[in-house]
Amino acid sequence: MIDKNPSQHQDPTAKSSVVRLEIDGDLAFIVIDNPPVNASSVAVRSGLLEAIQHVSAAPGIKAGIIIGAGSTFVAGADIKEFGRPPAPPELPTVLAAIEACPKSVAAAIHGAALGGGLELALACDARIALADTIVGLPEVTLGIIPGAGGTQRLPRLTGIATALDLVTSGRRIGAREAAKLGIIDHVVDGKSLHDGAAEFVRTLPGKRIVADLVVPPETDEAIAQAEQSALKSGRGREAVSEAVKAVKSAATLPVREALAQERAAFQQLRDSEEAAALRYNFFAERQAGKLDGNAKPLPVKTVGIVGAGTMGAGIAAVCAAAGLDVILVDANAAALEAGKGRVSTALTDLHRVGKLKVPSAEDAAAHVTYAGDIAALTGVDLVIEAVFEDLRIKTDVLERLAATVRADAVIATNTSYLDLDQLAEATSRPHDVIGLHFFAPVHRMRLLEVVRGAKSDPAALATGVSLAKTIGKLPVVAGVCEGFIGNRIYAKYRAQCEYMLEEGALPQDLDAVMEDFGFAMGPFAVSDLSGLDIAWATRKRKAASRDPRERYVGIADRICEMGRLGRKTGAGWYDYSAGSGRGAVDPIVTELVRAEARKQGRPQKIFAKAEMQGRVLGAIVNEAALLLGEGIARSAAEIDLVLVNGFGFSKFRGGPVFQASRKTSSEIDAMVDAAGQATGFGFRRGDVAALLADIAG
Ligand code: 3HC
Repeated sequence: MIDKNPSQHQDPTAKSSVVRLEIDGDLAFIVIDNPPVNASSVAVRSGLLEAIQHVSAAPGIKAGIIIGAGSTFVAGADIKEFGRPPAPPELPTVLAAIEACPKSVAAAIHGAALGGGLELALACDARIALADTIVGLPEVTLGIIPGAGGTQRLPRLTGIATALDLVTSGRRIGAREAAKLGIIDHVVDGKSLHDGAAEFVRTLPGKRIVADLVVPPETDEAIAQAEQSALKSGRGREAVSEAVKAVKSAATLPVREALAQERAAFQQLRDSEEAAALRYNFFAERQAGKLDGNAKPLPVKTVGIVGAGTMGAGIAAVCAAAGLDVILVDANAAALEAGKGRVSTALTDLHRVGKLKVPSAEDAAAHVTYAGDIAALTGVDLVIEAVFEDLRIKTDVLERLAATVRADAVIATNTSYLDLDQLAEATSRPHDVIGLHFFAPVHRMRLLEVVRGAKSDPAALATGVSLAKTIGKLPVVAGVCEGFIGNRIYAKYRAQCEYMLEEGALPQDLDAVMEDFGFAMGPFAVSDLSGLDIAWATRKRKAASRDPRERYVGIADRICEMGRLGRKTGAGWYDYSAGSGRGAVDPIVTELVRAEARKQGRPQKIFAKAEMQGRVLGAIVNEAALLLGEGIARSAAEIDLVLVNGFGFSKFRGGPVFQASRKTSSEIDAMVDAAGQATGFGFRRGDVAALLADIAG
């Protein structure tokens, strides 16, 4: 830890409010104090420059040590400044001053040294860190490359192949791994960072300018392999290919030239649409985890789950993977046994992708106990019902849970469509009830809609949000309505695609165009993957209450009536008889679509890509505006988070609402008009201007 009250005196010549000098004998501690994460804002850069100039000139100072106040070293450039023109002094100027300083300058690191934070440390003559520090160059995750020498100094310590991996993946590594790779010179154990750094700096023989080092020799094969694997995972992203180019140039160009090229690429990418989208997501994610008011979450150590089906078992696995104790209940012994298998498969998968917070899948599995009766749940802190999506069954389970679990336990339902308030009212304690709407497959999908009922206690809601973070999910708070945020928007998107089927488009055209728009898979390919039967059953159930004036497309029903229920039956919107893979376009489906269209007598046309995307964007944005206006969603950005993390929209494009915000208001109005005209009866127009203003603000 950092000394809270160091015995040094503060130097009166230091003027910056976010960087101060603390003199300890012949050492000058340059303390960066820019909460919350010491981002290297313009004020920090100016303060650092001034402090380095002071250290350079002060006769009694032997060395400088840059250290962070608060919980971290430096989390990187101040991302909020990225939308504006760069303000001097820029980071490379500060780093050049450190290298030019005649005295040794070290970085004493705790918390995180990320992006520009690590670049700052790499420009120092030595790096000293606490063992639980993380370091990394995550710039590519923001659509940019390191812009202050990271691509040049890192490979001089680690070699090109390792630097390619670190820079192109944005991976964060611990201090010990960083020390093995030569990035950290000394890991402090058993004493404060301040003392450890002071001691180590006194042993330094003099300056060691990383930029002047020779890149360690490596085989061409090792570099080629690292490059190939980086480009493969980068999937054509410009930030990744630029990062590869920059890192490789460390071995071929004079360092000053390579630094200038790196900076130019950084600045060009910083202004890109992709970088803007990723920054938008970065801040949206941080907002999503925050609640108004100061309700404290209840501590959750043991989670009860009712229903060992796909969802229940998935939830059990993610809770156990996070080290929580889980009791999974299912009255049906065979279902419970099958649930055990599902938990185990999910844990193995989580282990494979490095997402276990416990040492092994077996350790995680040992956190789960199985029971046949709800009575086993008396001691849990939170319970989640994940039984069949049926009002009567869920009501019954929730009533029994309310009578069983502790008075201070939170009761959550995993319902996707049912009215949470109605379910809560059926219990004796509606204030304890919240919704936790997980997405399948639970162990893969990052989104968790945390649903706030009319009577949900703020502490219960805060507990849901906190649990989401514990189990590695992204919480997005939603109000009560059918489908919450995600499914409600998805239904409108899907309906718009089906309308276009009746107007001349084919499933494969729409799927391709929606994938080009930003969805990982088009809507018909998604249906085939998840199975057409559940939605078909829902449509049949709702048929009696559907207003006959509503536009209804019967094509999906015809497909289901043919026994084509998706991949699991070998056919759906596509034909899967050839085995795995995308599925082939099936002339039977084409004919069926055309026949249904003829039956409806709608004019047929050849859709241009822009029109299809415009119709869909109009439908999505309009529903998003309604959700915001009704208070179901808290912000436009959170709606995008739902679509990105629960429905496969590309984060590199920010989200559909973000996409809309890049267009003119008349373009958007025209898109909403087109979606509205196609919908016809029942179309409600949302306040799209307010939605887009919410993004701009
Ligand atoms: N710039 C501006 N604000 C930042 C920031 C940054 N680099 N990093 C974090 N913040 C803000 C967050 O928005 C949040 O603000 P809020 O409280 O107002 O919502 C606050 O700091 C705390 O952030 P977290 O909620 O993420 O706090 P955690 O403790 O969970 O995590 C962290 C801390 C690991 C440092 C994490 O914030 C993080 O990963 N930050 C981003 C690091 C990064 O991407 N750095 C690279 C920047 S680009 C760069 O450096 C370019 C260079 O090459 C020139």
